[in-house]
Formats: sequence, structure tokens, C-alpha cells
Amino acid sequence: MSGFVSLVGAGPGDPELLTLKAARRLAVADLVLYDALVAPEVLALAQRARRFFVGKRAGRPSMKQETISALMVRAARRGDRVVRLKGGDPFVFGRGGEEALALADAGIPFEVVPGVSSAIAGPALSGIPVTHRGISSAFTVVAGQPAESCRRVLSALAPGGHTVVVLMGLASRAEVAALLLARGWRSATPAAVILGASTPAAATWTGTLAELGIADLPETDPDAPGLLVIGEVVALAERIAPYEPALRVGAEVVARGENMSRTDPAHRGIREVAARVGRISRSDPAPRGIREVAAPMERISRSDPALVGGGIDVVAG
Ligand SMILES: C[S@@+](CC[C@H](N)C(=O)[O-])C[C@H]1O[C@@H](n2cnc3c(N)ncnc32)[C@H](O)[C@@H]1O
Repeated sequence: MSGFVSLVGAGPGDPELLTLKAARRLAVADLVLYDALVAPEVLALAQRARRFFVGKRAGRPSMKQETISALMVRAARRGDRVVRLKGGDPFVFGRGGEEALALADAGIPFEVVPGVSSAIAGPALSGIPVTHRGISSAFTVVAGQPAESCRRVLSALAPGGHTVVVLMGLASRAEVAALLLARGWRSATPAAVILGASTPAAATWTGTLAELGIADLPETDPDAPGLLVIGEVVALAERIAPYEPALRVGAEVVARGENMSRTDPAHRGIREVAARVGRISRSDPAPRGIREVAAPMERISRSDPALVGGGIDVVAG
């Protein structure tokens, strides 16, 4: 009896961005082979499976692609239901295509379960639509490495009217910026660096193309993955971002207002969130005007009903 392999995208990090189909495949899997950047909560869905990390970890040799394919083929021939779990979408710089070909060549039945790619989710969660009517009618997603193929793609792009998303490009952001500037992109073109999108390490830098190569990036988990976005759409983040991204762990949520009374809806809302993350009890004395919540374990979303309903002004995150 032959088993079955599902090449599954795990999304950009937040377990809630996993698809229902992915969750169902994990629930019945016998074997899960997973990469870095897959959240523990997602792996926990594979309760009955043996789970093996087969991804790259900084500074350590990673398992060879042929070995991973051979593992999948062997397990499927044994009759296992195998989930090959990859960050984002399996076919976006995830070598999922190579694994699909290896399975096809070996005659193993398989499927692809697409995932939410960081190339789109990262910008979206920072308030950047990769296309926007009248501003950007296309977007290019390119890998920052190998540098030569990145250069080739970027050199072919006419300046402006277009959004460029660079994955695996943090280390080469100075070269990327220099190349686009040399190609005639305006030095004032808005640019962003998005780190750990949808994860507790989420942090975003925005500035201009001229600053992209030299700017200090926000401090966050040094292992957080990051991507670059270049194009006029980045300027929309100023207006869109405050309503979308999740706050970081340890972020400060501040309710502004002088002499806020205990019954003020904003005050009630922030205390509700605070109580939920265990920082203060609902019965603590009313703070005057300003209170903060730092969530040690749990993330607070800017769209949390308690914040929105309470009219909270989120000023840091
Ligand atoms: C090997 S590629 C895999 C991309 C993945 N298949 C996808 O669709 O998102 C890994 C790169 O994706 C980007 N990336 C993945 N998750 C990210 C996240 N949560 N925030 C920012 N960038 C992320 C980074 O550029 C990282 O170096």
C-alpha cells in the first residue's frame, strides 16, 4: 500500500494564518518533515505524527535536498501519510517544486497545499498593499541570493510604477538599493524592511531607497526572517498600518487621555486586555489617564475588539 505526501505551506509564522486544509493534513499525518520558521503551535496540530526538523539553522549544515526527498519517498512507500511542511508557500523559494518532481518521478501520489507567502503577507501586515490602483500595477518577488540572479531580475525592471519584494535579501539590501538607484529609481522611492512578519518578533523599518542600505534596523530577534519592499505603495503604510499589524510581545499599549475616569470606555478596554494577559487584575485601582500593557506570553492584536471597542489609542508596538 502506498502512502501519500502533502507538500504544505505553513504561512508566514502566525499559526492562525495556516489554512484549514493544512491543519487537517497535520491532524492525520504519520510523519511531518518541517523547516525552520514553522511555529510550535502548528507542529502541535500533528499530534499522532513523528516530527523531524529537516530545515536550515544558522551556522549548521542542513539536510541535503535529495535526503529529504528520499525520506518522503521511503515513508510513503511504507504507507505513511507524510506532511512536508514549509514556511510560507511551498512553491515560493521553498524548493517545493523540486520535491514535487522527485515524488512524481518516484510515482508517489502527492498534493500541494498552498500557503500564505511572506512575500505578500509580510507587506500586508505592515500596511503595504503590493499592488494599488494608480500607484503600482505589478509586483516582482525576487530572492536576494544568489546575488547574480537577483541582479539580473532587478536590472530588467523599469523604474517606478511597480513594487519589488526581496526575500532573503537583508544582507544584500545595500547592493539592492545601489542597483535600483543606478537603474534610475528615485532616491526618495519609499522602502521598507519587514522582520518576523506575523510573529512575536514583528518589526518594520520604513524610509527611502537612498536610506535602505545604511539604515539601522529595529531591534528584534536576531534570527527573525526579513524581507525588503521597494515602491510607492510603501508610503501607504503610514495610513494603513495602524489598523493591521499585531503588536510585538512586550509592546506597550497606551491609552491616552488626561484624567480618564475608571468608567471611560478606553480605560475599560485596556484593562480588559491587560487582565487577559495577566499583567493586572480587573480589580486593581484605576490608573489615571495612562496605562500600559506588556504581554509576556501572548500577542495583542491592534484589532483586538477590546481595544477597538474601547477606543484605545495604540501608540507603540
Ligand atoms: C527560503 S525563503 C521561503 C519563503 C516562503 N516559502 C514564503 O512563501 O514565504 C525564506 C525567506 O522568506 C522570507 N520570510 C519568511 N517568513 C517571513 C516572515 N515571517 N517575515 C519576513 N520575511 C519572511 C525571508 O526573506 C526569508 O529569508
